[in-house]
Amino acid sequence: MTHGLQHYHNVLITGGCGFIGSNFIRYLFEQHDFSGKLINLDLLTYAGNPENLLDIQQKYAERYIFQRGDISDKSLVAQLFEKYDIDSVCHFAAESHVDRSIKQPDSFIQTNIVGTFHLLEASLRQKNFYRFHHISTDEVFGSLGPEGVFTEETPYRPRNPYSASKASSDHLVRAYGNTYQLPVTISNCSNNYGPFQFPEKLIPLIILNALEKKPLPVYGDGKHVRDWLFVTDHCEAIWLIMKQGRIGETYNIGGMTERENIDIVHTICDLVDDRIGQHSTPSRKLIRFVQDRPGHDRRYAMDFRKIKNELGWKPRENLDTGLKKTVDWYLMNQKWVEQVRTGEYRKWIKDQYGEIS
Ligand code: NAD
Ligand code: TYD
Repeated sequence: MTHGLQHYHNVLITGGCGFIGSNFIRYLFEQHDFSGKLINLDLLTYAGNPENLLDIQQKYAERYIFQRGDISDKSLVAQLFEKYDIDSVCHFAAESHVDRSIKQPDSFIQTNIVGTFHLLEASLRQKNFYRFHHISTDEVFGSLGPEGVFTEETPYRPRNPYSASKASSDHLVRAYGNTYQLPVTISNCSNNYGPFQFPEKLIPLIILNALEKKPLPVYGDGKHVRDWLFVTDHCEAIWLIMKQGRIGETYNIGGMTERENIDIVHTICDLVDDRIGQHSTPSRKLIRFVQDRPGHDRRYAMDFRKIKNELGWKPRENLDTGLKKTVDWYLMNQKWVEQVRTGEYRKWIKDQYGEIS
């Protein structure tokens, strides 16, 4: 069963100031087939930056509402659902960085599991509620050897606190669909890259370090494989699932672009050198093999035939076009980079919204 798009009037986006969420909000406002309101609930952790959406806030002031807050704040979530008569949820908010989850898992449990639980509970209480779409990751499936791909039927085998917390939230979402008939869909996506990604993740980190001629850290032997997807392709897939995906179903989303980390790093080095001129040190000389991440998953690869066959989705960008766009975006958006690098945007957030309680 699918629900018509005409029902989506007041969509709650969680984590809309992060990397994928802000790209999704931008994408949705640029679509001609969405005319409702977006209510963005975001805690503005280190990864959330309202600057990502300043232009959107101004351009779509009538249809865009921002609320700073925590998805695991039960009463705030309940108030928001009531105040804005929320009829659908697109749930991005999460602690998202594996390395941080290894050092300090607490907020991953709180946000990714408890936060998702409160959103599900609030959705259940709504009278007219049409869709809870949960954004998840391929990392819930664990690690592949040299062969094979993850399908929607692959058993869950999360191997680090981040992926375990995401797996847990996926299970909760499915359970609410099965037990209470909450209209849920889930998408599990491979590694994203593109504009507005916080430079703790591999691709923006390497781009910015190469631009600044800083060391380029590659974990272990650099032969770990990820399946990369340009963020706008992910946004398009999410919106398709929200419009046409079957209730209760899970869809895998991937880039069909498996690469070893070292290959990605080499490509970025060459792109950066091409854009800024090589000067004395070619960027490849900055590569440093550093200590591996504990329990580092070796390989991810997604089989996305289901969404392709059912909904007609496939990636528009390939790694060449996507990486060029990404390097150019970071070059063209020096002010954003500077604010993120120096932490200046945190000061701005504090002035606007106060300290995180
Ligand atoms: P991100 O870290 O860039 O952004 C997360 C956002 O959530 C931030 O704006 C942050 O302020 C907000 N947030 C964190 N805790 C919150 C809380 N308790 N309440 C409200 N807001 C909170 O993450 P991202 O890379 O944009 O990922 C978004 C979603 O997509 C996550 O659920 C992630 O698991 C999933 N995902 C990411 C990737 C990827 O490659 N980045 C791939 C597949 C799936
Ligand atoms: P990351 O961007 O953190 O995404 P994820 O861990 O969710 O896949 O890392 C992508 C790959 O790059 C992963 O195999 C770890 C590796 N990596 C490095 O080699 N060096 C780095 O500095 C970072 C951040 C990641």
